[in-house]
Amino acid sequence: MKARERLIVALDVESVAEARALVAALGETVSFFKVGMELAYAPGGFDFAHELEASGKRVFLDLKLHDIGVTVEHATRQIARLGVDFLTIHAFPQTMAAARQGASEGALKLLAVTVMTSYDDADLAEAGYACGVAELVARRARQAKEDRVDGLILSPMELAAIRPIVGPDMLLVTPGVRPAGADLGDQKRVMTPRQAIAASADYIVVGRPITRAADPAAAAEAIVREMAGA
Ligand code: C5P
Repeated sequence: MKARERLIVALDVESVAEARALVAALGETVSFFKVGMELAYAPGGFDFAHELEASGKRVFLDLKLHDIGVTVEHATRQIARLGVDFLTIHAFPQTMAAARQGASEGALKLLAVTVMTSYDDADLAEAGYACGVAELVARRARQAKEDRVDGLILSPMELAAIRPIVGPDMLLVTPGVRPAGADLGDQKRVMTPRQAIAASADYIVVGRPITRAADPAAAAEAIVREMAGA
């Protein structure tokens, strides 16, 4: 896979009009876009995801599904019919098994969110878990593999510990990526694009360093060059 194909740009904007303008500004520099809850739930959000796919771009729907099994299975089947490429679900075993059923026919790839990167050990204790973040991420990575989920969303800092557990075929997708010297925003534990690819990420997700840049296409191109260097 070429470096360019490994870059996913997060379209974290309020409206379809803003998303369309960004996609147009990025042109051929970017081929893969993440549509999260903010844009998907905006008027026309799902139609826009379908329109992007139909225009030849790849689409990652970041909806983080989690519900009773039958609901997850049916929702996943509907999303598979939209023709998008990636869908996120939470890495609870029932949720993963149900989504696998729902995605059984199409080409949709399922990515499990292990533990939200905004949670620390104290948050897990507060929520009633008896283990810390590192242990829970490893446990859920193992379960994701057993449930035949296609990939995981991880912090770049977790790549080194998790790749040996899941093996070479699991897709590892990481946000929390910042070019050297870039504004971190609310991201705390970051790696550069080169470091994340070198640490075995298959795809990196980058939002604001591209979408808020004065020249988004130039910012994306610089990140692709950095990834190619890894
Ligand atoms: O703007 P920035 O590059 O920080 O955007 C990262 C994207 O990845 C956002 O859409 C954010 O919601 C998402 N994300 C994240 N950390 C996670 C899961 C998703 O930053 N653990």
